Amino acid sequence: MTLLVWRPEFPILDTCTYLVSHSLGAMPARARRYLNQFADEWDYRGVRAWHEGWWEIGRETGNLLAPIIGAPRDTITMHQNATVAQSIVASCFDFKGARRKIVLQDLDFPTNHYLFEGFRRFGAEIVIVPSDDSIRGRIDRLVDAIDEQTVLVPISLVLFRSACVQDVRPIIEKAHRVGARVVLDAYQGAGAVPLDVTALGVDFAVGGSVKWLCGGPGAGYLYVRPDLINSLRPSVVGWAGHTAPFGFETGAIRYADRIERFQSGTPNVPALYSARAGYEIVAEIGVPAIRARSLQLTRRIMDAAQAHGWKLNTPTSDHERGGSVVMDVPDGQRVADELIRRQVIVDYRPGAGVRMAPHFYNTEDEVDRAMATMSEIVSTDNSQLATNNFGVS
Ligand SMILES: Cc1ncc(COP(=O)(O)O)c(C=O)c1O
Repeated sequence: MTLLVWRPEFPILDTCTYLVSHSLGAMPARARRYLNQFADEWDYRGVRAWHEGWWEIGRETGNLLAPIIGAPRDTITMHQNATVAQSIVASCFDFKGARRKIVLQDLDFPTNHYLFEGFRRFGAEIVIVPSDDSIRGRIDRLVDAIDEQTVLVPISLVLFRSACVQDVRPIIEKAHRVGARVVLDAYQGAGAVPLDVTALGVDFAVGGSVKWLCGGPGAGYLYVRPDLINSLRPSVVGWAGHTAPFGFETGAIRYADRIERFQSGTPNVPALYSARAGYEIVAEIGVPAIRARSLQLTRRIMDAAQAHGWKLNTPTSDHERGGSVVMDVPDGQRVADELIRRQVIVDYRPGAGVRMAPHFYNTEDEVDRAMATMSEIVSTDNSQLATNNFGVS
């Protein structure tokens, strides 16, 4: 069955050429229905809604996501975003003893740097492993940097700048050999690239739902390996993480002996209603089918880019390429702005280029139209291009 049968479920596809799912996946029509359902429940059921599903919605939403990333049931909590999820992980550790090193890559998404740099004040030592270019990380250097002093290794499954899929297995293997924990930042992979957190044996995984999962903002997730859940004591914690939240005890927390110990406070109910729609669709299609289609369409983009002689800042081999293609053309920001003005929705990242990301709902025609439009723009004198204020940079 062609995945294009899903197109009517994504109304925005009728209005533009939507090739930006690495940034914001298209909204499924059923997300509106779920959000209406939320509004009706709030409106008509009021406070009773908490006991009619709202209180458990974090766990239930996590269970919808679980098969997409290869997690068992009841191992995921939902948070405002991936940064918050990752800060809860970091709060499980202390950085005062000999084991206080956090090993990062220079190609990480900046949020990881900002967050973990902040832990220096608690004693953390931050090591940033350099890459040789902005396309691939140096996994070998990262493996070498992990030692008995390492407490945490946050690592991206797919690099946001180049869409390079990283082989994280040697990192997990080395970290576990020396007693360190690995946090997989799955944001640019989940929903586009097959991922099995159980088979990887990774300790934690974090991400959010706005991109390939088509789940909208406000639905960050945190997976914790089941055998670790009850041994960890996050200090970023709240009443929803208490063993008996409705006992309203004060003083130090008595942790819930279940995934909710990572929950902090009240769940973000409307965001989790909207996320449900994307998760259901991605789970129903299945990531392997999405991946197969993505590889076809990204190959088509790369072939056209290479025919124009544009530099690709994305790995060309299928096993290394995630869901987007990054093309370095002169004056990339203005090219992206002009594409958007002509209803071809893409984005631009400094130091990377114009990023184009087809998803399961895109057609060959859309890709061809986007590339033809881009070629026209690139060969037009810059001074003739309009600047627009579309805020996606
Ligand atoms: C790989 C990666 N990690 C983390 C983030 C930041 O996530 P959040 O805004 O949910 O904290 C992003 C956002 O684009 C990302 O691409």
